Amino acid sequence: MKTLVFFGAARRKGHTKAMVDLLIEHLDGEVEIIDAYREPVKPCIDCRYCWRVNGCSIKDDMQDIYKKIEEADNVVFASPIYFHSITGPLKTMIDRLQVYWAAHVRKDKPEGFQRKGAMLLVGGAPDFEDQFLGGDIVLRNVFNDINAENLGMVTLANSDVDSIDSRPEVKEEIIALAKKMNEANK
Ligand SMILES: Cc1cc2nc3c(=O)[nH]c(=O)nc-3n(C[C@H](O)[C@H](O)[C@H](O)COP(=O)(O)O)c2cc1C
Repeated sequence: MKTLVFFGAARRKGHTKAMVDLLIEHLDGEVEIIDAYREPVKPCIDCRYCWRVNGCSIKDDMQDIYKKIEEADNVVFASPIYFHSITGPLKTMIDRLQVYWAAHVRKDKPEGFQRKGAMLLVGGAPDFEDQFLGGDIVLRNVFNDINAENLGMVTLANSDVDSIDSRPEVKEEIIALAKKMNEANK
């Protein structure tokens, strides 16, 4: 089983990383992390090349990332919430997945699920309604575009004060999500 993690945090050792590490610890198979803050991926320019051709006109590191998505059994998005959504560098990378959305235009979108998806989100503020909604909407739609079955989302709120160590139920949720991913790929 191959898992590709899109890591959207600026801090290398923050709460998002702690959640990713715990997930990985309980996942079967190989894991590769794409670090959105450290990948020189250019923004989508809506050139509409992908409306005609199944590929992206911008020849940068994203070309390799498309291949990795194709080979992945699981795609995980892990991000802090910045101003009610995922972080900018991760969003830049996600915009480059327009090539998958454009399958609707090209009329070559594959039928059914081709992989599984999962989300890990962190918010510094104390828990409030819709704290994670912005990220959730973006990522659920990405899963739809990349034909990924959404296996679930784990959130950590109040990370200005709390961590997964002070919130054992969040740890349990992450472990349960990893097990669900393992099972779903058997
Ligand atoms: C620019 C910026 C915007 C933020 N916006 C929000 C927000 O809208 N909601 C929230 O709950 N936390 C917000 N936070 C807090 C982060 O989600 C929090 O610090 C989180 O722990 C960062 O993840 P990390 O620990 O992996 O670095 C924001 C932080 C920054 C730096």
